[in-house]
Order: sequence, then C-alpha cells, then structure tokens
Amino acid sequence: MIYYICLDNTNTTHNNIIMKVHNFSAGPCILPQVVFEKMAQACLDFNNSGTSILEISHRRKDAVEVIDTARALVKDLMNVPETHDVLFMQGGASLQFPTVAYNLLKEGGKAAYAQTGKWAENAIKEAKRFGEIEIVASSKDKNYNYIPKNYTIPTDVDYFHCTSNNTIFGTQIKEFPNSPVPVVCDMSSDILSRKIDVSKFGAIYAGAQKNMGPAGSAVAIVQKDLLGKTGRNIPDYLNWDTHIKKESSFNTWPVIAIYGVMLNLQWLKEQGGVEAIAKINTEKAETVYAEIDRNGLFTGTAETEDRSQMNATFVLNNEILKTEFDELLKEAGVVSLAGHRDVGGYRASMYNALPLESVQVLVEVMKRFEQKFG
Ligand SMILES: Cc1ncc(COP(=O)(O)O)c(C=O)c1O
Repeated sequence: MIYYICLDNTNTTHNNIIMKVHNFSAGPCILPQVVFEKMAQACLDFNNSGTSILEISHRRKDAVEVIDTARALVKDLMNVPETHDVLFMQGGASLQFPTVAYNLLKEGGKAAYAQTGKWAENAIKEAKRFGEIEIVASSKDKNYNYIPKNYTIPTDVDYFHCTSNNTIFGTQIKEFPNSPVPVVCDMSSDILSRKIDVSKFGAIYAGAQKNMGPAGSAVAIVQKDLLGKTGRNIPDYLNWDTHIKKESSFNTWPVIAIYGVMLNLQWLKEQGGVEAIAKINTEKAETVYAEIDRNGLFTGTAETEDRSQMNATFVLNNEILKTEFDELLKEAGVVSLAGHRDVGGYRASMYNALPLESVQVLVEVMKRFEQKFG
C-alpha cells in the first residue's frame, strides 16, 4: 500500500493511523488505519481459515462472533440499558426513516417531528406515508443554520423524532428536549462521538458510515417495550422485533461491513471509549472554530451556540479567492473539504478517527491563506 504526504512529505502516525491525506469527508469517512489493515487481511484470509471473509456464510461460527461482538460493543460503549436492544440492518439510515414509522406510529396515529435539515425532511417525507405528522419545530426559515428551541411536544403523539446532528448544515442538538412521549433520534452523524443517556430515548438509529464503521449497515437501539403496538402488518425485514429475536441474523448480513464496524468499535474502546474520544472531538472542533472566527477571510454558517462538533461549515468572504484557497488545501493534502451544495463553501467533517493533527494542518492552511490574501 502506498501512503503519502503530510505537510512535510513524510509519513506520520497518530494513534497508529498512518496519515495518507487529511480526509475531511462527510461520510463515508476516515476510519482508523488498523481497521483498513485488518479488513484487507480478512479479504485475503479470514482468521487463518484459508477463506476470504467475502466468501463465508454469515452463519459460520467466527462470523456470528463478529456480529455478536459488534452488538456487545455498542451496548458497552453507549451504556445501553437492559430495557433496550441493539440490532443491525441494511438500507442505511434512509431505510430506518420508514422503519421508525412502521414500528412506532400506530394505525391512525400521529407523530411529531423536528425539521432541522435535509435528512429530517427525508424522515418526515417517509413518515407521512404512515399517518399524520406534526412539525413541531423547524429552522427552514434560515436554511437550517440553527437548532430550534422552546417548542412544545404534544402529548397525543406516538413519538417525537429529531436529528441529533445535521451533517449538511453543521448544527447539532446540545440539549435534547424533555418529551412527554418517546424520543426517536437519527444519530447518523454523531453517534459514539459524545456521551448520550440512551435510557432517555425510545429509539436511536444511525447509518454506519461515519463513527460506526464502513457503509453497508445501520444500527438501531430500540426500547423493547415500545414494540408490537402499532396494529400494523409490518413486513418481516422492517420489523425491529424480527432482528432483535434473530440477533441481527434474520437474513444474510454483510459480514465484511459488520467486521469493519466491530474493528472500529474495538479501536474506540482502546482509545478509552466515548468519554475519551468526546474530549478530543471537542478539542478538534474548538481548534477549527477558533480559526474560522479569528480569520477575516472566513465566516461560519451555523449559529455559534448550535455549531456541530462533527461538521464545521464555513464560507469564504470573498468567493473570488476560491481557486487560491483550494490550491493551498491541495498542496497540504487536505481532501474532501467542499461544502454540501445546499450550503456552499466548505465543511470540515471531524469524525472520531480524524486526528487532531489533521485539524491543525487545516488551520495552518487557513492562516497561510490569510498571510497571502488577508
Ligand atoms: C443525519 C443523517 N441522516 C441520514 C442520512 C442518510 O444515511 P444513509 O445514506 O445511510 O441512508 C445521513 C447521511 O449522510 C445523515 O447524515
């Protein structure tokens, strides 16, 4: 494998991650080097069995151990209480949008949603196929650059749905609302990045391809006693209870993808778990936001108090200088920093596996840009 550049053209390591480039991708995103190495090895020969992980049954003993270990690690790292269970499905977070409604929205029932970005809009669109959806909070009026607060969640709804981190718009819920009904949360882009009290949620779900591991699965953490109450005829695959009862082995699951999840969670545990990584995530976010605020050539797009620790969105004050800034980024090996088309500018996605060093390199580039053009 060829690894290249840091600023000084030498390979450096951070927590055993060999720096290739500084990958700020919004997802699928950077994962620890050890995950890539072990997945590559497993493609050639899984567990010295003479078979690739790509050609084995998901029911083979060592494959079952993979999914069992991955589930156990989610429970351990997130301190999941006995009242909840953890399951893996395919279809990413997008398939969880209708799955939530199938499992929790009663026939003839109502649900409340917070509309805080594109993914929330998609969740709402899918849920509307199942019943009445009340949008109880929205930040659409300002292109989703803030998190609405002080709204009321009705008592006559089956659940309240929110998105903890708005990947595109760079906002994040800092304090979840008190809710008279179960809270269902799409945590696709900040799961395992900070401490969360799982007992406060009726259900949490996330597409894997950020802090969980490679793309190819979604995790759901579900309060068991909420299930079986909608009166709906739920297709087996979309019934969370199916996957709980079958321990996520209802049908053929993607062994390589879940192996990647397991390895990534093992790495996180070795780093000291969620509390330890949360401190580093805070440091990374503070470092980049301090520069965005200090440097006269940039402006952050999200309201300061609602800024995401995972995705920092900012724009150039003078778009004419875009080519010059992009050139400096390229020279420094900073990749995938382009903002989403709905926001423009730049987005620094700083998921768990992104080392602080990459953020420091980005900040150096911003400073150098200022020296040249400020
Ligand atoms: C917050 C959020 N929800 C949902 C999704 C959709 O995930 P998937 O592509 O796994 O369906 C994404 C994807 O980036 C996301 O960031």
